[in-house]
Amino acid sequence: MNADGRTRLNQTPEWTALAKHREELADTHLRELFAADPGRGEGYTLQVGDLYLDYSKHLVTDETLRLLRELAAATDVFGLRDAMFRGEKINVTENRAVLHTALRAPRDAVIEVDGENVVPKVHAVLDRMSDFADRVRSGAWTGHTGKRIKSVVNVGIGGSDLGPAMAYEVLRSFTDRALTVRFVSNVDGADLHEATRDLDPAETLFIIASKTFTTIETITNATSARTWLVEALGDESAVAKHFVALSTNAGKVAEFGIDTANMFEFWDWVGGRYSYDSAIGLSLMIAIGPDRFREMLDGFRLVDDHFRTAPAEANAPLLLGLLGIWYGNFHDAQSHAVLPYSHYLSKFTAYLQQLDMESNGKSVQRDGRPVEWQTGPVVWGTPGTNGQHAYYQLIHQGTKLIPADFIGFAEPVGELNDQLKAQHDLLMANFFAQTQALAFGKTAEEVRAEGVPEELVPHKTFQGNRPTTTILAKELTPSVLGQLIALYEHKVFVQGAVWHIDSFDQWGVELGKVLAKRVEPALTEGAEVEGLDASTRRLVAKYRELRGR
Ligand code: F6P
Repeated sequence: MNADGRTRLNQTPEWTALAKHREELADTHLRELFAADPGRGEGYTLQVGDLYLDYSKHLVTDETLRLLRELAAATDVFGLRDAMFRGEKINVTENRAVLHTALRAPRDAVIEVDGENVVPKVHAVLDRMSDFADRVRSGAWTGHTGKRIKSVVNVGIGGSDLGPAMAYEVLRSFTDRALTVRFVSNVDGADLHEATRDLDPAETLFIIASKTFTTIETITNATSARTWLVEALGDESAVAKHFVALSTNAGKVAEFGIDTANMFEFWDWVGGRYSYDSAIGLSLMIAIGPDRFREMLDGFRLVDDHFRTAPAEANAPLLLGLLGIWYGNFHDAQSHAVLPYSHYLSKFTAYLQQLDMESNGKSVQRDGRPVEWQTGPVVWGTPGTNGQHAYYQLIHQGTKLIPADFIGFAEPVGELNDQLKAQHDLLMANFFAQTQALAFGKTAEEVRAEGVPEELVPHKTFQGNRPTTTILAKELTPSVLGQLIALYEHKVFVQGAVWHIDSFDQWGVELGKVLAKRVEPALTEGAEVEGLDASTRRLVAKYRELRGR
């Protein structure tokens, strides 16, 4: 039993039934499952908004899905879901509500935190953002010298960077191409240097994005950006027209020297990695315009509503979460690949890494006891077809089981000429070929029938049985992006709920931050730092020697 009276997850009858079922299915091949059910390719699909989900190429039967849903019921996934949507403080270690869903709630919705309806606040900030974005886009907001803003630099890290940076890439063809939009996150000075070296300070707006406004990387880069600007324009007061802040911490924003009139607020019930549809999305909104941004929010909301209301059998985030549990907990899969077949989704998987790994990279349950089961997977991947010529070999023929999501679109987006548009069929031919090859492979008999010499037959045989989800939509629009992100947000939620972990804290990033602060004086001043281990002490000395200190 756990402290809260729950039977330990891996001792529940639902878990045990899944483990037994896994053994029974051990020798079953997807080839057999498809042969036994000609309707599988149509039956094992879901349509959610614009997203068509095909889960037929998974190592599951109706029975597997039923048992997985029973696990979800036993762990009260929908109970926790409802508590989240109601604004209950389900982030137990920080005693906070988890309400990124309120960021895309309609104006007339009522969602209360501590007795206060937060929806009017959300829309007030969205309206201020829209007004500001319009003024920057139209040229009504000018810099200190009266010049129009032509470049926007978002300075932030983690959730204050990955979301807008990813979405800006995804929606590039919807952006105002006259604006240069860049993202600086790394405390490596090279990042800010490369982002600003060709910009005119008089035409540059810095957006300092930090929920806490204490993150060392962001504050350091913001300070350097301010120096760059003030030195060029020769006037400290220029900051007012060239710096705005996105934060929950008005005190720290003012302390940094940004007028809080130029601050766009969000709240502690928005987790950093769930924040890009809050004020954190301002750079994106400036790039694509408020209307497109709101279309994106509508996409998020569509999947929120689906997750909240769809029955378990047809609930896409529940299904995707449970499939991940099936592989991670019952097939020993350690990682999960996300493989978008769209160049515009080049930063999508990097974004999901924070969403998934910072949320579910936990080994302690909500009640403080250690988990006795695997939790979040390593999430990785890059856009196809590039990956096909790099690491797909391991997915096809390696010794590890790597479930993968393939995300593709029927239409190419945007401004491509006819010749480039025509390449889209080739891109998608690769997409469909890969999921087919992964699922069905190529038997030794098929290889032999091609006249391959016997000694090469084992090398050219593909075992298949590699599971994939296909997510297909007509076109990559702002709404579709919102739908995709909400789908993954809720998938991560489902898994955290089943594993009985707090998906909304991130204590694991703290120790490194504390140690970095402690080590820095050793590097700069050669200070004697207490508690340095022998390896780190030697490395610090070597570093100083190499720097000639
Ligand atoms: O890396 C830890 C973290 O706290 C993330 O969760 C967060 O998104 C990031 O740092 C940035 O934090 P902030 O927005 O407060 O600067």
